[in-house]
Amino acid sequence: MNNKTICVALVGIGWAGRMHARAYNHVYGIDVRRKTVCGLEENLSEFAQQFRFESCTRDFGEILRDPEVDLIDITTPPFLHADMIVKAMRAGKDVICEKPLTGYFGMPDDKKPVGNVSKEKMLREVRKTIDELEAVMNVTGRRFFYAENWIYAPAFIRACELMRSKGTTLVQMDSIAGHKGSPASYVKYWEQSGGGTLARNLIHPLSAAIYAKRLEMESRGLEYGVKSVACDCSQVMKHIENRYIEADPVDTEDWAHVVLTFRDGSKATLTSGDTFVGESVTTFDMYGNDAVFKCRFSQADLLDVYFSDDKGIEDEHFVEKNDSNIGHHRAIVSEEIIRGYYGEIQDFLECMLEGREPLSGFQIAREAAELTQIAYLAAEQNRTVVL
Ligand SMILES: NC(=O)c1ccc[n+]([C@@H]2O[C@H](COP(=O)([O-])OP(=O)(O)OC[C@H]3O[C@@H](n4cnc5c(N)ncnc54)[C@H](O)[C@@H]3O)[C@@H](O)[C@H]2O)c1
Repeated sequence: MNNKTICVALVGIGWAGRMHARAYNHVYGIDVRRKTVCGLEENLSEFAQQFRFESCTRDFGEILRDPEVDLIDITTPPFLHADMIVKAMRAGKDVICEKPLTGYFGMPDDKKPVGNVSKEKMLREVRKTIDELEAVMNVTGRRFFYAENWIYAPAFIRACELMRSKGTTLVQMDSIAGHKGSPASYVKYWEQSGGGTLARNLIHPLSAAIYAKRLEMESRGLEYGVKSVACDCSQVMKHIENRYIEADPVDTEDWAHVVLTFRDGSKATLTSGDTFVGESVTTFDMYGNDAVFKCRFSQADLLDVYFSDDKGIEDEHFVEKNDSNIGHHRAIVSEEIIRGYYGEIQDFLECMLEGREPLSGFQIAREAAELTQIAYLAAEQNRTVVL
């Protein structure tokens, strides 16, 4: 890496890969060389052309062996994350990785389906994997960047800035991450996704809550920590007839609710589900002792549109997961900015050049992955887990 050029390889060209690829096109002040994109799809070379990657490959090993690549950006399904991170760091590359950092995906002696494995075992194994990742990071000296876009959403960043300036104590945070399901095929199976909506969606508000509370407590000179975790996880849509929700979990949950209690007694109540018909719901409300901050990541009121029919705009989406473009909509504008995708990539690349810490790094990735497993344990044992 010279002073101003970072050579990137992107792995995965699904929904997340596309968001990251777009973000590299908008980086400012740093030269990014988009060297290689890696994925298994037929349209890989079209993707490479569209997002100006120099080459494409189906072989992850090719990227590892390329001495020019400085940074590998991993947007593959969760069960591949830990192995790819280890291989990338051992090959001397810095790493960006999508959420979740890792999870439990089954062991040879497990009875199938993997979702039925004891959550104590899952927690133990996930902690082991995270410790191994940390050890590899320490031995190789490579950087890790955790692509948690909620932490980079401008509304959330501004709320955190104001909370800090005001010296507000957060009393309660309340958030919903709701969708009408995911089109990605791996989400039905625990052995590929490491869980259901809790591991996949609730991890966003969970990460935002622990980030905000840590920032608040540490900026007031207090020691941050989560004291306890309660959780309810369920398969809701199995029992409800519907035509509009893409939830078909095999051994994963499609609805989850988590209550975190922090060291100072304050709370976060977080809900996620593949059970929300209509456009996605992404709200994050922070109620303090002297201020309230209500962050919205998918809805915006900058542009109202109306269409009599959808000829010519069939491939547009005005809001994530809306059913149709016909009729009235509040169209989201600059989605990649509002939802934090541009901000995270910009921060990570600046961190590589400047040697500073990212807003979202290994500490958040680790705590979010561990709390996710503790929440599964709480749900399985129907009790509040005290840490
Ligand atoms: N931050 C967000 O808003 C957000 C949204 C969606 C997904 N995600 C995360 O992004 C990741 C991917 O999710 P997705 O919905 O884009 O999934 P997806 O299934 O749409 O895409 C996965 C990609 O990984 C590639 N891939 C799979 N195995 C591979 C291998 N062995 N070598 C190279 N490439 C391989 C596939 O070809 C595909 O391009 C997950 O970790 C998910 O949790 C994050």
